Amino acid sequence: MPDSGNIFIKGPSVLKGPVKAGGSKNASLAILAATLVTDEKCVLRNIPRMTDISVMLNLLELLGKKVAREGSAVIIENGSGLRSEAPYDLVKKLRASILVMGALAGRKSSVSVSLPGGCAIGTRPIDLHLKGLVKMGASYRLSGGFINLSSKGLRGKRIYLDYPSVGATENLLAAACRAEGETVIENISREPEVIEMVRFVKQMGVQAEVSGDMLRVSGRRDFNPVDFTVMDDRIQAGTYAIAGCLKNSAVDIEYSNPEHLEPLLDKLRDGGASVTAGENLISVRGVSRFRALEITTAPYPGFPTDLQAPLTALLTRAKGVSVVTEKVFENRFLHCAELSRMGAEIEVKGESAIISGRSSLSGAPVNAMDLRGGAALVIAGMMASGKTRVSGIQHIERGYDNLAGSLRELGADIWTK
Ligand code: EPZ
Repeated sequence: MPDSGNIFIKGPSVLKGPVKAGGSKNASLAILAATLVTDEKCVLRNIPRMTDISVMLNLLELLGKKVAREGSAVIIENGSGLRSEAPYDLVKKLRASILVMGALAGRKSSVSVSLPGGCAIGTRPIDLHLKGLVKMGASYRLSGGFINLSSKGLRGKRIYLDYPSVGATENLLAAACRAEGETVIENISREPEVIEMVRFVKQMGVQAEVSGDMLRVSGRRDFNPVDFTVMDDRIQAGTYAIAGCLKNSAVDIEYSNPEHLEPLLDKLRDGGASVTAGENLISVRGVSRFRALEITTAPYPGFPTDLQAPLTALLTRAKGVSVVTEKVFENRFLHCAELSRMGAEIEVKGESAIISGRSSLSGAPVNAMDLRGGAALVIAGMMASGKTRVSGIQHIERGYDNLAGSLRELGADIWTK
């Protein structure tokens, strides 16, 4: 991706005021892919404007959908006929393009999707996606970097996921919407964004029920037109809550389901911040010296891996030694070396980062290498004294719509160039 510039921050920052998370990137991506299941019109509201969403919209058009943007709404209608090849040059920009595979497999006898490949945070295999589709009657072969799926129609089956994979749950849910009979998926991901996709397919007319870690879906051939408002972005809201812990800061985050963030909010309270969650609002009051924490990431309702990097940034100035263990992805500490350039004392040992809190950080030029690691560097820049330049902000723009602008409105001395 072309380098889209830098974010500059002159710290330390004190943040005060209200902020609202935009529409959920990850729920939007899964739901946009699921529109391939139906021929009916889908009006999707609260869809954020960010690079990942634009790539998914381009892919839907390429696959034959008509796509229109009206403010924060996206209208998806049938175009000239569904195509079934997702090309490498789009999939390499957006791993989540793999989510079109399940929807297409449910209705096309042959589907070809480029293998997404790995990314900075890990190899990102899709073995669980493919194992489930094979169980439903598909077969596939890998050639030329593509997965070529074929099936004479999918049949509902009982599928057990060896790991509660978000993407595999979403792909198999989309495939089950058109499979013959009932599909039961066990050990599903229960991330709120997955539950949001279930809510969407139910509005399409699909009979889908979640009970504990099991999802039951009855396939069908005809669907309802849908007008659906997507939830707010949980990870954006969580990022602002972490930023609200900065010394003397007082941030009120408008977010529709604060209970989604309890795993994070509980830890912020343990660290000494005052955090209250009300109706559609999370109020965070900062603390002069955050206390060290022990964090282990896990599938929902565990501590979210997507907030590990932003919280690690906060812990670099905590009082005491923190231990952050990353159990979801194999390489999600790329931000630590960059934080060390700002004076942080972090030792990465296997799955854990041991962070000895320092009394101060100093601004420095640093480089974002992945989406959430980039957000971590922005938080560190607001904690540091002096000027920080975060380069590689194309990573940040993939998942935050206007992070610098929102933080500037809260009082940070931050700009992009
Ligand atoms: C989704 O990725 C999110 N992306 C990620 O958010 C998020 O970090 C992740 O879920 C975990 O919550 C989107 O929703 C677009 P997984 P996904 O399948 O679906 C292994 C962000 O920052 N695995 O639950 O790829 C995999 O290697 C992004 O917004 C298999 O081994 O996550 C990983 O270690 C980053 N085989 C773990 O499971 C498979 O077939 C979690 O992956 C599938 C996954």
